[in-house]
Amino acid sequence: MKTFDKHESEVRGYVRSFPEVFDRSKGSLIFDEEGNRFIDFFGGAGALNYGHNDDAINEALIEYIKHEGIQHGLDKATVAKRDFIDTLYKNVMEPRGLGDYKIQFTGPTGTNAVEAALKVARKAKNRSNVISFTNGFHGLSMGSLSITANSVYHDPAYPQFSNVTQAPFDQYLGEDYDTIDYLRRLLEDKSSGMQLPAAVILETIQAEGGINVASEEWLRSLRKLCDDFDILMIVDDIQVGNGRTGPFFSFERAGIKPDIITLSKSIGAGQPMAVVLLKPEVDVWEPGEHTGTFRGNNLAFVASRTALKRWEDDAFQKSVEAKGEYIAERFQKLAEKYSDLNAEARGLGMIQGLEIPVDGFADKVSEEAFKNGLIIELAGAEDHVIKFLGPLVIEQEILEEGLDILEKAIDTVYQQHKG
Ligand SMILES: Cc1ncc(COP(=O)(O)O)c(C=O)c1O
Repeated sequence: MKTFDKHESEVRGYVRSFPEVFDRSKGSLIFDEEGNRFIDFFGGAGALNYGHNDDAINEALIEYIKHEGIQHGLDKATVAKRDFIDTLYKNVMEPRGLGDYKIQFTGPTGTNAVEAALKVARKAKNRSNVISFTNGFHGLSMGSLSITANSVYHDPAYPQFSNVTQAPFDQYLGEDYDTIDYLRRLLEDKSSGMQLPAAVILETIQAEGGINVASEEWLRSLRKLCDDFDILMIVDDIQVGNGRTGPFFSFERAGIKPDIITLSKSIGAGQPMAVVLLKPEVDVWEPGEHTGTFRGNNLAFVASRTALKRWEDDAFQKSVEAKGEYIAERFQKLAEKYSDLNAEARGLGMIQGLEIPVDGFADKVSEEAFKNGLIIELAGAEDHVIKFLGPLVIEQEILEEGLDILEKAIDTVYQQHKG
């Protein structure tokens, strides 16, 4: 660890939470340089839905490199890019009624896609205000930060929250309060003080924000609100898209179509890539108006095209849903077991959270689990939520082993807490 402590910036994070030097990985397992084995319930923060070093993806990448395929192409036409677009269209977009959406390639991280979505929405509507939601997370470059709620990421010195109205997410004001009614009232009242926004941007399940699942009904009423007031709906599916909840997109369950969709993380199947899907009428860019040297990573196109074969039928979705139900059941049992700590389980598909609202408790659980060979991260403003985000391809046996380690870790911390 000396090298990292000496040379790496103070900003480093996960190297502190999981202080080992990692060397190899396969499927849902990671090995440190001494060969110690860790089960991965963190999945590269959602970038590794198809697992580490998938055989088919690795073979495709090796073959492409041996062939001396184009690696850096800016946004030029390449064979790899064409194959990726054709596969995304055929296996994902067209079957979901999104065949006419345009694909914009941005710089390869999630925040690049969010920046582009915010810009194009504002340009398309010629309005600067955007609505984002309490506890939302959309990345940390300046535009994305302006719609990211968690105070940990803000500093008074930053130009923050400019041209943004922060609105209450589903259930933020309690189960019986419809937060869309509140927004509708603000929009109807010319003296509410809120500028008519170009767009609303949301995660259908707030992931970093603590696994807050928006109801299907709430999503549909938000869609209707957007239609009624000519506002664009941007769904940031960077973390909970790519099959995380079962279907490819997280909004499919509500039967809605956003005007703009951002994707990153697992769209590159382990390689950096980000895209923005735009309804044709929202694609108001001039040629070259929003550029970036690393738009379109050809290695990611090769990896992704291979991974997207899993979406040729619904077998993959069904396996995610089945494993998701199993994890949800185990988390529910844990919530019942620790009801004296007001534990609560929530999630959808293979993003599941267990909230234990006792300061420092979840941190200790993650630490204890790591000592016993499990990597698991936390979410929520206070880091109270233990979050499952393992690869979607995790084998049932390894999943059960990991959940057993987690259960034991919670028990150990609980005994310390009570003692
Ligand atoms: C929903 C969402 N949007 C955007 C981002 C930012 O992605 P990146 O860290 O790749 O910039 C994240 C990252 O966790 C995310 O979860």
